[in-house]
Amino acid sequence: MKRGIVPGTFDPVTSGHLDIIERAAALFDSLVVGVALSPDKGGGPLFSAEERVTFIQDATAHLENVSVRAFDTLLVDFAEEVGASVIVKGLRAMTDFEREFQMAALNWRLDHHVETMFIMAIPEYMYLSSSAVKEIAVHGGSVRELVPDAVCDAISRKLSEAR
Ligand code: PNS
Repeated sequence: MKRGIVPGTFDPVTSGHLDIIERAAALFDSLVVGVALSPDKGGGPLFSAEERVTFIQDATAHLENVSVRAFDTLLVDFAEEVGASVIVKGLRAMTDFEREFQMAALNWRLDHHVETMFIMAIPEYMYLSSSAVKEIAVHGGSVRELVPDAVCDAISRKLSEAR
């Protein structure tokens, strides 16, 4: 049985992430979405790990071979813990490449048994990122269709609580 893992911070999950998860799920017997706690990224995540996991669980409920778990370890250790041999990452514009290339090389150095593969983002999602979604929302723009509806509502609630 071939198991893949799609890791990320997912703060919050976007339609672009979900497209990559869905396409990766079609390539593996089972797929684990690993939600990194990433407490230090960008001044701390907007959503808790539990919230981020729940958003992805709800949005992938129709995909029977997908499960979602939070992790706070090295990615290669988490991959081993869940029995995944392939890390799947989405690649958007060339700007992603440098960082992803570095992470793939370091993960290879840390564990030769775990491969990294990339799935190209479709043009519609090429410039979509969680941080852009948050920036648009903070300035009052609509993020509908960029994220699942439940996430869109949660961002509005979170931002109005903070005001
Ligand atoms: O969505 P992101 O923030 O680009 O995802 C980055 C992530 C979570 C995949 C990366 O930071 C990661 O793998 N974190 C776990 C810690 C780790 O293994 N770091 C070394 C990888 S080079």
